[in-house]
Amino acid sequence: MIPDKAPKEDVFHGSEDMKKSAHVPSFEKYKELYLKSIENPGEFWGDIAKDFFWKTKHTGRVFDYNFDVTKGEIFIKCMEGASTNICYNLLDYNIHERNLGDKVAFYWEGNEPGDELTVTYRELLRRVCQFANVLKSQGVKKGDRVSIYMPMVIELVVAMLGCARIGAVHSIVFAGFSAESLCERIMDSQCSLLITADGFYRGDKLINLKLLADEALRKCRDKGFPLEKCIMLKHLSKEEETSVGSQSPPAKRPCPDLQVPWNPEVDLCWHSLLREASDECEPEWCESEDPLFILYTSGSTGKPKGVLHTISGYMLYTATTFKMVFDHQPDDIYWCTADIGWITGHSYITYGPLASGATSVLFEGLPTYPDVGRMWEIVDKYRVTKFYTAPTAIRLLTKYGNEPVQKYKRESLKVLGTVGEPINPEAWQWYYSVVGDSRCPIVDTYWQTETGGHVLTPLPAATPLKPGSSTFPFFGVVPAILNESGEELEGPSEGYLVFKQPWPGLMRTVYGNHQRFETTYFKKFPGYYITGDGCRRDKDGYYWITGRIDDMLNVSGHLLSTAEVESALVEHESVAEAAVVGRPHPIKGESLYCFVTLNEGVTYNHTLEAELKKQVREKIGAIATPDYIQNAPGLPKTRSGKIMRRVLRKIACDEQELGDISTLADSSVVEQLFQNRCCTGV
Ligand code: WT7
Repeated sequence: MIPDKAPKEDVFHGSEDMKKSAHVPSFEKYKELYLKSIENPGEFWGDIAKDFFWKTKHTGRVFDYNFDVTKGEIFIKCMEGASTNICYNLLDYNIHERNLGDKVAFYWEGNEPGDELTVTYRELLRRVCQFANVLKSQGVKKGDRVSIYMPMVIELVVAMLGCARIGAVHSIVFAGFSAESLCERIMDSQCSLLITADGFYRGDKLINLKLLADEALRKCRDKGFPLEKCIMLKHLSKEEETSVGSQSPPAKRPCPDLQVPWNPEVDLCWHSLLREASDECEPEWCESEDPLFILYTSGSTGKPKGVLHTISGYMLYTATTFKMVFDHQPDDIYWCTADIGWITGHSYITYGPLASGATSVLFEGLPTYPDVGRMWEIVDKYRVTKFYTAPTAIRLLTKYGNEPVQKYKRESLKVLGTVGEPINPEAWQWYYSVVGDSRCPIVDTYWQTETGGHVLTPLPAATPLKPGSSTFPFFGVVPAILNESGEELEGPSEGYLVFKQPWPGLMRTVYGNHQRFETTYFKKFPGYYITGDGCRRDKDGYYWITGRIDDMLNVSGHLLSTAEVESALVEHESVAEAAVVGRPHPIKGESLYCFVTLNEGVTYNHTLEAELKKQVREKIGAIATPDYIQNAPGLPKTRSGKIMRRVLRKIACDEQELGDISTLADSSVVEQLFQNRCCTGV
């Protein structure tokens, strides 16, 4: 399955220098470890577990599972029976066992250049303990769900680790999501507390987060779920004790527009609570398979799925992938530009890097603010060695040419990473040659919210790279490519990407709906976990993700379900039916192209179009704002009434070659849709 020898042509190799000290210094070593990891997962992960702290030893097998729905319920267990605490492992253990107390955990860089903070491991632990005590004082107990809706500030990490310390389950909702989305997620996981902030800036734009949080709570109340506790951090209207660390940065930007409504029945002030709290807090010793967090991801039915990860397996997996994939070394300065509100931030800003005792940059702002050189300015400022970002950011910056990059030195960089979507070879080449000065290997990491951590990825000193390929499986991961009948394809082939056995970081269930977990991921091909992605394997055994093969879209590296956008559209009183497809976009990867059939008597105009866009933004969030909306008096359907999205995709792209449309009930509809395309000429 994995070639004995790496191919020699068309590939890029890691530097000789890096090979000297790398955790996995050669392809041969990768292969040796890989074989061990799949032949004997228990021994492999058991060895890794020795580097962590266990309050009591595991009683069950290191790794145990059923992956076949025909044989009973799907389950995955890692280190069963052991008790531990992930926050203790990340902070206390690193401080006491590895003497990292004075090491910097985070360099926080605000939206405004010059707004900055430095937080050591010891200081982070102190704050986390304080906040854990705050949670306890509010009655939060082990197993309770806590919703977190915050900007990219140190206190977000404090809040999540505070939950982990007392065994509460965090459910972080990305601060770009709408009030409606927040309400839906709070209710689905029955959260007993919400943590938010007054507001924040994204570039020039002020986001009044508290207003959105209040609206979400109002909606929850209206739907019969009164959540009565909301802790608010003052981020823009800073207070003395807001800041973590000794320096307290002045709020660089006066904030006259910020309205912070305050409801004394519900709202609690982060700062006043902290003032009362002790900075010592004994961790809650949890079972390995106790839940750590829930993170919602789009589902093809339109209702987001609460992906649940558990403590020990997630800890071992994020720590190991972080260490190997970025070849983490003690003097590294690592920077992942993702938001903590997505899985990338959970696994590769908080858990993986802290488990490894890493120093990270935590950036609140945008790559283009105040100018398009911001990322490279930060790279030079902190001398970043390992840099991890998304293809969409790279494509965006490519547009501005080489000058804004070359203005900065970037000589500290050693490894570059990408995540979120396939990277096109042109963007890869630019990232490699311009950003990395042709010195730094690129790790194109393929994974999902569900997989917890990287599953197909190069290792920087070991894997010869091919631009656009995520190359080979990580340790413990066994990919296969299936055809429509579920047969495994050998050698060069293309089909459904599936995995044949679990690894410690794979999700355990959909919160509150184990059946949905089994149906979504294990039913179509019994015995396999289905990713929903198409994949090609080339003659050298390299894997190439070809994109989603379900009704999911990938906009700027984030999944959206077409059904979710469609249901937001049809909720508008003028819309009878909607169908949404992806249309390739030079920066976002895909953009949303929506077809709407209006109710009788309604005419389509710009006002309606603007209302529909607003509706989707308010229901889901800015990321789901449609790029195009086309009035579609009729939609192409099969005789049985199923919308033919394949045809709509062609119309969206103005591609006249439709393939076989013999199953179409009324072909005149298609002609009409082509004539009325809303973006003629694009
Ligand atoms: C989907 C998962 C994993 C964190 C961010 C997204 C696509 C992700 C790659 C990559 C090609 C990729 C897949 C996957 N994807 N990384 N390196 N190459 N495609 O998490 O929102 O759960 O999305 O993102 O389609 O299924 P997510």
